[in-house]
Parts: sequence; structure tokens; C-alpha cells
Amino acid sequence: MSTARQIIALIKSQIEGEDQQFYSAALQIAAHEARQGHGKLAQEIRELIDEAKNRGSAIERKNSAVPLVQPKGELANLLSARYPETKLSDMVLSSELETKLQRILTEQKQRSRLQNYNLSPRRKILLLGHPGSGKTMTAAALAGELQLPLMTVIYSSLIGKFMGETASRLQLIFDAMSLTRGVYFFDEFDAIGAHRNSANDV
Ligand SMILES: Nc1ncnc2c1ncn2[C@@H]1O[C@H](COP(=O)(O)OP(=O)(O)O)[C@@H](O)[C@H]1O
Ligand SMILES: [Mg+2]
Repeated sequence: MSTARQIIALIKSQIEGEDQQFYSAALQIAAHEARQGHGKLAQEIRELIDEAKNRGSAIERKNSAVPLVQPKGELANLLSARYPETKLSDMVLSSELETKLQRILTEQKQRSRLQNYNLSPRRKILLLGHPGSGKTMTAAALAGELQLPLMTVIYSSLIGKFMGETASRLQLIFDAMSLTRGVYFFDEFDAIGAHRNSANDV
């Protein structure tokens, strides 16, 4: 049997998409098996590695593909998911705004480094501006840059006429947030506030 450490190294390198580390971890397992006298098994592993190396580019494409997520069940009525290809560089931005948005991206990309210092990246931003000023586009660009799904909240099915209905649907959305990483976009956010005085919901 290969040691647990070798298997962990193998899995880690696959998750991180580190091909070279993956090959070297696999070769170590082959060497280990050979030392145990399992020559045939070792040979089989080496052949698999050679095959994988020869396919090179195909593996890379697979690694860079974004895993698709789609809301299911009741959530499917509340969130619409898409994978924008918008980039920050597609936008016309004041340098002040660009710096702010870049900083959000940096914090997200380096979140594990921040976590080492018990800090977390900013996770909530409020976009304010006239119609057509680029709020939706900004949300799409953040998702595009971070290779995350853009989850847009569908208000027509969020706001209910019965007491507590809206709140329990919001809870579903917040639960989804803690499970699935993404850019959750509450477009026209003031629509929720506007309904606070409605007679049938609290
Ligand atoms: N800062 C910008 N840079 C480039 N294009 C923009 C910008 N702001 C708006 N646009 C263009 O106008 C369209 C509408 O903008 P949008 O993001 O929907 O505005 P909002 O959500 O604020 O109403 C976008 O799809 C984009 O084509
Ligand atoms: Mg918009």
C-alpha cells in the first residue's frame, strides 16, 4: 500500500491543477510500489503517467474549465445563474473606481493569505448609480474576473404577499451563499425596501 501522505499529495495537486506535482506524486507511488516488489502495478502507474503527459494540452483545458452550478428546486425560481465573460478591462472606469474594484479582486484572489492573518476579504459591495451607469456590468465583470457564477436574484418570485414569505425565501438565498461560492447580485436592491410598508408582509 502507498502511504497516506502520498495519496494526499496526489489529491492536492489534482485539486490545485498542478500537473507537474501530480506526475511527481504519482511517480513516487510507482517507486514505492516497485520497492514493495509490486513491479507490475508500478509499471501500470508509469504507463498511465506517460499517457497523461502525452495528452498534455487536453488536460490543461479540462483543468481551466469552470465547474458549472445551477440552482435547483425552489432556489431555481429565486436565482438565475450565468457565467459572464465580461472583464474589468471591458469597462470604462474612473481610475478611482478601477482601483477600488481591483482591490476587491485582489482580496478575493488572495483570500487564503488573508485568512492566515485571521482577516477575510470584503464580501459585500453596494453599487449606486443612474440606470445604464454600469452596475449590472460591474457585477458581471467581478464574476468574470473571478471565474465565478453570477447569481442574480429574481425579485418577482422573491417578494411574497404572505407574512414571512419573503424572509424565508431570502433565507434560502443566504443559505445558498454559504454553500456555493459566487457573485450574488441583488439588482435593484431598493425594491425590497419599497415593499416594507406593504400591508401583507413584514
Ligand atoms: N462603465 C461602463 N463601461 C463600459 N460600458 C458600460 C459602462 N456602463 C454601462 N455600459 C454599457 O451600458 C450597458 C448598460 O449598463 P448596465 O450595467 O446594465 O447599467 P445599470 O445596471 O447600472 O443600469 C452595459 O451593458 C454596457 O454595454
Ligand atoms: Mg442593471
